[in-house]
Amino acid sequence: MEKFVIKGGRTLTGEVEISGAKNAAVAIIPAVILSDEPCILENVPQISDVSISLRILIEMGADVKFLDKNTVRIDATGITEPIVPYEMAKHMRASYYFLGTLLGKFKRARVAMPGGCYLGDRPIDQHLKAFTALGTECTLDHGMIDIHADSLIGSQIYFDMVTVGATINTMLAAVKATGMTIIENAAKEPHIVDLANFLNSMGADIMGAGTDVIKIRGVKKLKGATYAIIPDQIEAGTFMIAAAATRGNVLVKNVIPKHLESITAKLEKIGVTVEEFDDAVRISVDGPLVKTSIKTMPHPGFPTDMQPQISTLLCLAEGTSIVTEGIFDNRFRYVDELRRMGANISVDGKVAVIEGVGSLMGAPVTAPDLRAGAALVIAGLAAKGVTEIEDIYHIERGYECFEEKLRKLGADIEKRSFPGTSVRKVAL
Ligand code: EPU
Repeated sequence: MEKFVIKGGRTLTGEVEISGAKNAAVAIIPAVILSDEPCILENVPQISDVSISLRILIEMGADVKFLDKNTVRIDATGITEPIVPYEMAKHMRASYYFLGTLLGKFKRARVAMPGGCYLGDRPIDQHLKAFTALGTECTLDHGMIDIHADSLIGSQIYFDMVTVGATINTMLAAVKATGMTIIENAAKEPHIVDLANFLNSMGADIMGAGTDVIKIRGVKKLKGATYAIIPDQIEAGTFMIAAAATRGNVLVKNVIPKHLESITAKLEKIGVTVEEFDDAVRISVDGPLVKTSIKTMPHPGFPTDMQPQISTLLCLAEGTSIVTEGIFDNRFRYVDELRRMGANISVDGKVAVIEGVGSLMGAPVTAPDLRAGAALVIAGLAAKGVTEIEDIYHIERGYECFEEKLRKLGADIEKRSFPGTSVRKVAL
């Protein structure tokens, strides 16, 4: 097993290059199945969720070749059986995107039901509602979701809540359906737009991605494309907060500043200086960090995937901050770990009250999930003394070369192996 060992208290300075977006990559990689020709994807992050997605493709019969570290050529034309068994699907919740894409390609799909997870209840009723509206029959058969249709027919779908996953799955399933599909109350996250751009570059006809109404006119064929995945908004935000928490001065490069607006706005409220350039932001801190209130919301609101990181920063700010989790039922599981480092946080349901403590102290902690793990790294960087973080496989699902990038900024962080077996929990 591996853990991070961090000697805290070093100020981060210098430049960091942001990788491609995890949540775009895990949608775009399965989407290649829809193409009748090979595709080349650029700016693909080297993270374990990408490896899992590619492994699923390979097991199904695709030919996958890395042209360089972050460029991959995928020929999915060899896939004939639209089945993703539990052994392959269980490692990553986003494997449910294979449902939409296999359905779109073969008009049938059999994919293991995503398992439980640690952010609270995460049903997929909206995904199934959309597939049904497109004319499919969906059944649950021994843990597998079985979907088939004689033909996929465009339809109007209104989601009961804003859902990233169901918006993506519907786009994947509808792109080759007959006629027009209209998604209302669609999610607007940057990776929704990225997927639509990728599908359109293959010849799809998708309009409105990035607004709450997406219109998909079905096409008969999709061709190959070469496409670069957008930079990761959450990785960028994580480095912005790491810089702020250590009172550093860091240029965060290869970002789309527009995607960071809600994070930038809150950091400025807290007392952090954020300077915007065309494709970079500079973070610095001169004065005190101060309290604020935050509620996580669908894009363009403050992202739930930044909630643990900014809550950690607020532990270091003066005053009492209130953080409300607006998306998931159970995204404060890291709070117990932060308390071990001296944080003063109380949680009541979806609301956390954070009393600023000025500084944290190093302690052994365990990452409960991906973003919470990143938050504990930030806490360790800012803390006095040594922090050891276990279960870092969570962090490696979503951050490419995290410790190397931090070390280049001056952090004292290393990955160490230690004996033991970890019970790997279902991925987010
Ligand atoms: N929901 C339902 N029914 C559904 C679908 C969603 O009730 O059929 C609820 C969920 O339970 C949740 C809310 O709707 O309360 C929003 O869920 P959404 O579908 O938007 O989330 P997701 O697609 O499962 C993606 C990201 C998450 C990110 C959320 C919110 C991927 C692979 N995952 O999850 O990313 O937190 O959107 O932005 O894109 C992460 O990267 O750490 C991560 C967890």
